[in-house]
Amino acid sequence: MVIRKAVIPAAGLGTRMLPITKSMPKEMLPVLNKPVIHYVVEEAIKAGIDDVLIITGKGKRAIEDYFDRSFELEYYLKERGKLEELKEVEEIGEMVDIYYVRQKKPLGLGDAILHAEKHVNGESFAVLLGDDIIISEEPGIKQLIGVYKRYTCTVLGVEEVEWSEVEKYGIISGEPLGEGLYEVRDLVEKPRREVAPSNIAIVGRYILEPDIFDALKAVKPDKNGEVQLTEGLRYLLQQQKNIAAKRIEGKRYDVGTLEGWLKANIELSWGVRL
Ligand code: G1P
Repeated sequence: MVIRKAVIPAAGLGTRMLPITKSMPKEMLPVLNKPVIHYVVEEAIKAGIDDVLIITGKGKRAIEDYFDRSFELEYYLKERGKLEELKEVEEIGEMVDIYYVRQKKPLGLGDAILHAEKHVNGESFAVLLGDDIIISEEPGIKQLIGVYKRYTCTVLGVEEVEWSEVEKYGIISGEPLGEGLYEVRDLVEKPRREVAPSNIAIVGRYILEPDIFDALKAVKPDKNGEVQLTEGLRYLLQQQKNIAAKRIEGKRYDVGTLEGWLKANIELSWGVRL
C-alpha cells in the first residue's frame, strides 16, 4: 500500500513554449536558478518516494545530465574552495534513484505512461507532470498519497479553474465527499466550455494503480493519434473501478505556459535575497 515509485512523463515537445523549446526541453526551463523538473523531483522525494522513472524522448538529454554527477565541475569547485556551490551540485547528483525510458514517438500522455509498465512492476505509483509546480506545506503528491492510503483506489489531483480555462484540462464531475474530496463520476479531456461537466480540472498529479495499463491499451487514440490518460481513466470508471479526486492545497503554477512560467518566477522570487 506504500507508494514508492513515481513516474514523470517528460517526452512532450513543449509546443506551447516555442521557440525556446526547439533546442531545450521544457522541463529544463529555469524557475529561479533551478529547472522546472528539479521542483517536481523534489516534491516526489519529500513525499517519501525513492524511485523515479522519467519518460524522456528526443532532445531530452539535458535532463539526464542535470541529475547526473558532474565530476569535472565538482573538481573545479573544490579546487577553488567554492564549497557551498559544490555541496549544492553534489546533492543534485544524489537526490534519488532516477531511471529513464524513452518514448520513441510522441503519441500522447497515455502512451508515455504505458512505457512505465515494466518499471512499476505491478505496484501502484505516483505520476507528476512537469507542467505543474506545486508550492505547498504538504507536498501536492503526498496529499494524494494520503487519500490512496485511506481508499486504495486511483486518485486524481484537482483544482477549480476559471470556466474560460476548462478546455485546457481534463475535467471531472463528481460527488463531493467533503474536505475537497470527490468520488469521480465522469471525466472528459479538454471539453468546450458549453459541454464541460464542471470547472474542476485535473492538475498534473495522479496516483495510479497497475490496472491503468490494460485500460490504456484498450482505449482508442484521439483524432491526433494520441492516447490520452484521461480516456484510460474513463475506461476504468466504465469497468466500475473507483476513482477519487482531491483538491490539492497549495499554490499551483502551470509552468507549461509562458504566463504561468513568468508568474512562477516572479512570485517565487519574492522573499529571495538577491
Ligand atoms: C494533461 C492532461 C490533462 C490535465 C493536464 C494537467 O494535459 O491530459 O487531463 O488536465 O495535463 O496539466 P496537457 O497539459 O499535457 O495538454
